[in-house]
Amino acid sequence: MPVTAVLGGQWGDEGKGKIIDYLSGEADVVARFQGGSNAGHTILVGNKEIILHQIPTGILREGIICILGNGMVIDPINLLREINDVESTGVNTDGRIFLSLNAHAVTPVHKFLDAYNEKKAGEKAIGTTRRGIGPAYTDKIRRTGIRIRDIENSSLLREKMQAQLDAVATFIEDVTDEEINSLKNEVKEFYRACEKVKKYIADTFNLIHEYIGEGKNIILEGAQGTLLDIDHGTYPYVTSSNTISGNICCGLGIPPGKIDKIIGVFKAYNTRVGAGPFPTEQRNRYGEHLQQRGYEFGATTRRKRRCGWFDAELARFAVKINGFDYIALTKFDVLDGLEEIKICTHYKNGRYPDVDLDVAEPVYETLPGWKGSVRDIRNFSDLPEEAIKFIRKIEDLLSTPIKIISTGKERNQIISME
Ligand code: GDP
Ligand code: IMO
Ligand code: MG
Repeated sequence: MPVTAVLGGQWGDEGKGKIIDYLSGEADVVARFQGGSNAGHTILVGNKEIILHQIPTGILREGIICILGNGMVIDPINLLREINDVESTGVNTDGRIFLSLNAHAVTPVHKFLDAYNEKKAGEKAIGTTRRGIGPAYTDKIRRTGIRIRDIENSSLLREKMQAQLDAVATFIEDVTDEEINSLKNEVKEFYRACEKVKKYIADTFNLIHEYIGEGKNIILEGAQGTLLDIDHGTYPYVTSSNTISGNICCGLGIPPGKIDKIIGVFKAYNTRVGAGPFPTEQRNRYGEHLQQRGYEFGATTRRKRRCGWFDAELARFAVKINGFDYIALTKFDVLDGLEEIKICTHYKNGRYPDVDLDVAEPVYETLPGWKGSVRDIRNFSDLPEEAIKFIRKIEDLLSTPIKIISTGKERNQIISME
């Protein structure tokens, strides 16, 4: 199937990077359609761990074209750092990275405002990644944003940037001179970065349509996850873009009929970073087991991730809204060593999205754990009987097949049933 989307089914960090890296063995193009450097997609190649924030995961395999679509908000300063980091691992990025001219730029003012808003919100803070994502999308919707194509017009770029700086000085009463001066310095760095990223700007609309026409293998890389979607997630504890499959079309400029397959990535349990409701959260030894064995720390902010049992009520919603053809289940090895494993089958008091998640009462089914580890298993039939039962249970609850199981961080720790 030439055009395949890979999206997160939970609150992000499902292991999309690992699954896309595995699938991109046969890809020609990997394209992102939303989000920005709030994403952190971890890939382990050999003993090198690489975390990608804006560049699509395909960059790690020679020759794959990487597109940053119009739906993204792109931070030129961070992008240059990321390109340097990737190149320092021996990857040649020449002629492989294309930024949509209609994507929006994340500026130093956006990052300042993100941090400022969070600080002001106090206990009501969202726990954003402080990468300027919300303010950048706000400017896009207000129609005052800086588009990547504006970088090519130096006077327009400066005019728009100055307007953002003036707005901070005018509307934020408690901004200090020190903060303004530091912003001005960052803006100088921003201009230098813009000069350097000019060479990556492209008409990605026509590019991707040409690739589709040629029948190339294209992976559409989701960032964040379904429950962080601005319309359908746990608002206001969400990101500022649509993360679901419906937004692929807007974020890259392709019609729905051109997407051949949609794969949902789910962890075998649930995690979230930042604030917001989490009905199956386990603040006990089970949660600690998942956090520690899963090494659950945010790839972008290094915050400890909150952990809990797999939530099939929310996962069913994700399957429906995205139209997942099948599921890639990750971090299965993290369940090793648990004497029993719970799955939330539904809530006692309502269905998502109608139910108030703050008071949702999960109903659990308890399954037996297994002995030993699944980390070195490569064939489904070699899995312990209890592990197979767990997989079948999730398939039943979601009425969707699981065709890929990830059993560790490494590239080859995969059980494929495709
Ligand atoms: P993404 O944002 O969806 O790409 O996921 P992240 O990279 O933020 O977080 C997933 C983390 O889990 C990374 O550190 C991965 O290296 C790791 N990981 C992915 N798959 C597995 C797996 O099957 N088992 C274990 N133990 N770790 C995994
Ligand atoms: P990947 O692509 C997990 C969360 C933040 C916060 C909320 C809003 O690695 O799965 P933002 O900076 O977007 O305004 O933050 O969304 N968040 C993520 N959580 N994985 C991500 O991306 C995330 N990107 C944003 O923690 O709760
Ligand atoms: Mg991540």
